[in-house]
Amino acid sequence: MTAIHPSILSADFANLEAELGRIRGADAVHVDVMDNHFVPNLTLGLPVVQAIRKATDLPLDIHLMIDDADVWAPQYAELGAESVTFHAEAAKAPVRLARELRGQGSKAAMALKPATAVEPYLDMLGELDMLLLMTVEPGFGGQEFLDIILPKIRRARQATNDMGGQVAIQVDGGINAETILRAADSGADTFVAGSAVYSAEDPDEAITQLRKAVSSH
Ligand code: DX5
Ligand code: ZN
Repeated sequence: MTAIHPSILSADFANLEAELGRIRGADAVHVDVMDNHFVPNLTLGLPVVQAIRKATDLPLDIHLMIDDADVWAPQYAELGAESVTFHAEAAKAPVRLARELRGQGSKAAMALKPATAVEPYLDMLGELDMLLLMTVEPGFGGQEFLDIILPKIRRARQATNDMGGQVAIQVDGGINAETILRAADSGADTFVAGSAVYSAEDPDEAITQLRKAVSSH
């Protein structure tokens, strides 16, 4: 199943409630949490996510681009996020953390930066509900999709198929109506799109178009 998760990083932060109202057709809201340490940008944290939780009924897909993920990630699950993604590069004990998130009733997801290989993590795929393969260096919206990630998506899809296919494969960065096709062909099924959705006049229509692009391909 194709899922489109608009990133509110490209939304108007002064009008978040209204901006959430423009993506009612989304499968989830992708929320980018950055701490200016793990990535060279600073966005929002727990209090704002709590406010977003109250402002929308859409599932929350929290993407943590922060250090000390083992300490912080469970606090986002606690707020009622449906899915919490930590970076492998920022987690001291990724298996323990994934189990903790699941134990809290959240989906457990792990992200890999573009230059991080997926192979060392294949044996722990069963601990995850979703694997996020970054298709840009994390930190900013509006960057160009990295085609060099396509083989990694393919290898990850093969590995999840081999173990029964229960893990969603998400891509994030540079996704538009054209790059989404290459990512989908390689095996991704969950697509984050920030600028492609929020730079459109009608973000909900942009979501529909992205979904259509994949299904009619
Ligand atoms: C980047 C973030 C993305 C970002 C994507 O580090 O993780 O979620 O919002 O933005 P676009 O779709 O514009 O590349
Ligand atoms: Zn993201």
